[in-house]
Amino acid sequence: MRTAVCPGSFDPVTNGHLDIIKRTAKMVDKVIVAVLYNPNKNPLFTVEERRTLLGEVLKEIPNVEIDCFSGLLVDYVKERKIDVIVKGLRAISDFEYEFQMALMNKKLSPEVETIFMMTNNEYSYLSSSVIKETCKFKGCIDGLVPDKVKDALIKKFE
Ligand code: PNS
Repeated sequence: MRTAVCPGSFDPVTNGHLDIIKRTAKMVDKVIVAVLYNPNKNPLFTVEERRTLLGEVLKEIPNVEIDCFSGLLVDYVKERKIDVIVKGLRAISDFEYEFQMALMNKKLSPEVETIFMMTNNEYSYLSSSVIKETCKFKGCIDGLVPDKVKDALIKKFE
C-alpha cells in the first residue's frame, strides 16, 4: 500500500490545496493530510478548526485521512510509515524554499522522497494569506475556497 502525505498549515485550506490533495489521492492508496501544529505561528484557525474544515471539504474522498503533527516532518513520515511527501508548486518563487526544505528533509532522512506537483493554473496565485487578507477587508473570495471555508472566514472576521 502506497501512502502519501500532503503537509501544511492549511490556515485555512484553499482550492489550490484541494486540487493537489485530490490529484494525489488518484495516484496513491492513501493520502494523509497533515496539519502542522506550530506554536511559533499565530494562526487564524486553531489546529482543530483546520482539521474540521479539511474533514468537511474532503469527506467525499474515501482514501484521505486528516491528521496533525508537530516537530519534524521526516519524523512524522517515519512514524506513520509514509512513502512520499507531496507538495504543490505554484510559481518559481515557491521553488527556492521548497528546494531547501526537500534537501534538508533528504539530509535528515535520505530514504524519504519528496515529489512536487504543479498547481492548476487557476490557483497559481492563491495562498491562505492572500485569502485571509482579502476576506478581512471584505473582498470577494468566491471560487477560491470551498463555501464552508468562506463561511468560517467571514465568521472569524465578524
Ligand atoms: O503550508 P506551509 O506553512 O507552507 O507548510 C510548511 C510545512 C508544514 C510543510 C513545513 O513547515 C514543515 O514541514 N514543517 C515541519 C518542520 C520541518 O520538518 N521542517 C523542515 C526541516 S527544517
